[in-house]
Amino acid sequence: MTVRIPIRRLWPEPSTQPLDDDALTALYDRAGEPRLRVNFVTSLDGAVTVDGYSAGLSGEPDKRVFGLLRMVCDALVVAAGTLRHEGYRAVRLDERRRAWRRAHGLTEYPTLVVVSHSLDLDPAQAAFADAPTRPIVLTHADADPPPGLTDVADLLRCGTERVDLAVGLAELHRRGLTQLLCEGGPHLFGALTAADLVDELCLTVSPLLAGPGPGRITAGDTVPPRQLPLRHVLAAEDGVLMLRHARP
Ligand SMILES: NC(=O)c1ccc[n+]([C@@H]2O[C@H](COP(=O)([O-])OP(=O)(O)OC[C@H]3O[C@@H](n4cnc5c(N)ncnc54)[C@H](OP(=O)(O)O)[C@@H]3O)[C@@H](O)[C@H]2O)c1
Repeated sequence: MTVRIPIRRLWPEPSTQPLDDDALTALYDRAGEPRLRVNFVTSLDGAVTVDGYSAGLSGEPDKRVFGLLRMVCDALVVAAGTLRHEGYRAVRLDERRRAWRRAHGLTEYPTLVVVSHSLDLDPAQAAFADAPTRPIVLTHADADPPPGLTDVADLLRCGTERVDLAVGLAELHRRGLTQLLCEGGPHLFGALTAADLVDELCLTVSPLLAGPGPGRITAGDTVPPRQLPLRHVLAAEDGVLMLRHARP
């Protein structure tokens, strides 16, 4: 059995007792309007990976919140780069989390949405081949799918020559997928920031110095800085901080 590391709220009101799953879920609840929430883990010195992967930055508290964020969303949006590199599997939830979704009138599983310009995707990857809900690939009008991709996923073409993320998200909303969770990676986060589409950032800060080398959680073209006010600070007993920043 996994040992649960206690998580407490530090701000705004400190909690003396560790937060259970219900209390944590309430802190990351669904919004009344469409929202794009982005979730990342970083080192103290701003690294997006250790030894090339995010796993070296994550621990049990981060994984617990990561799972809750998946539980409450309608769709999980991920860049093709992260899907390929991290070897994404099918998005599955345990029975307790599926029961929570049923009780809240949601589908059993969130829909996986993969953002890709090139459509260099492997239909045999478990994220597609084993998906409990048919994934959506958000791409552009000129993209050419590899054989078999349309057998395992729906293509959503938004924009010509390049993916128009604003149009893509609006189309997901139109399909009833309004609570969107983006799990990265850095280039997708940079493009969403550039298009001013990020409503919320959930950031886990891991208490380690990764040193120089890895990139940051964002990448791509320079954009003007944007304010994103702090909403809460959670601390796990292993020294991990979990910040939630969101638009007013
Ligand atoms: N620390 C964390 O929380 C965390 C989270 C996620 C990822 N990561 C790490 O980040 C690294 C992957 O980063 P990456 O540089 O490959 O960035 P990425 O954003 O994961 O992937 C870039 C690729 O995704 C697609 N893409 C992204 N934005 C797009 C847009 N606006 N329009 C169309 N397609 C878009 C393109 O795929 P196509 O090539 O198919 O066109 C692009 O080549 C990995 O090392 C991963 O472990 C860390």
